[in-house]
Amino acid sequence: MSDRPAAPACPRDPILRVVPRPADINANGHIFGGWVLSQMDIAGGIVAGRVAQGPVATVAIETMEFIAPILLRDIISIYAHLERRGRTSMAIRLEVVATRDGGRTEERVTEGVFTFVALDENHRPRPLPPI
Ligand SMILES: CC(C)(COP(=O)(O)OP(=O)(O)OC[C@H]1O[C@@H](n2cnc3c(N)ncnc32)[C@H](O)[C@@H]1OP(=O)(O)O)[C@@H](O)C(=O)NCCC(=O)NCCS
Repeated sequence: MSDRPAAPACPRDPILRVVPRPADINANGHIFGGWVLSQMDIAGGIVAGRVAQGPVATVAIETMEFIAPILLRDIISIYAHLERRGRTSMAIRLEVVATRDGGRTEERVTEGVFTFVALDENHRPRPLPPI
């Protein structure tokens, strides 16, 4: 087993950095909302899995706000913040920032709060481990 400490559940660095592909563009020339949502779900699932120290499932999306369009050639960074811990569930706020103009500008483009539930081996809710 490694002596290195486990990664913090919610580091200040982005959980995910990703570049949309041309196939992710809708008729307006913007990136599909569903593409962004799935990237947020992936990022939130990484954090939730660290908090739960095991498997998790997305049970709800509490809020989702598309603030500004994502454009081709943007680099998307997803930041995560554990907003609420319940008995078996947790709410994670996900903020999406687009870096554009060759890195000269950054814009907050999407934000949402996703709820995840820790699962046991029978895919049923499992209490979160103590902090
Ligand atoms: C996740 C799942 C196992 C929860 O089962 P359930 O019978 O609703 O479980 P419970 O009623 O005991 O709720 C478990 C926790 O989830 C929370 N929860 C359930 N539904 C919720 C909702 N719609 N919004 C927010 N929280 C919710 C409950 O408040 C509870 O939290 P707590 O223990 O921290 O108080 C079940 O809903 C499921 O399998 N859903 C499908 C998950 C999935 O496939 N996701 C997409 C792919 S990952």
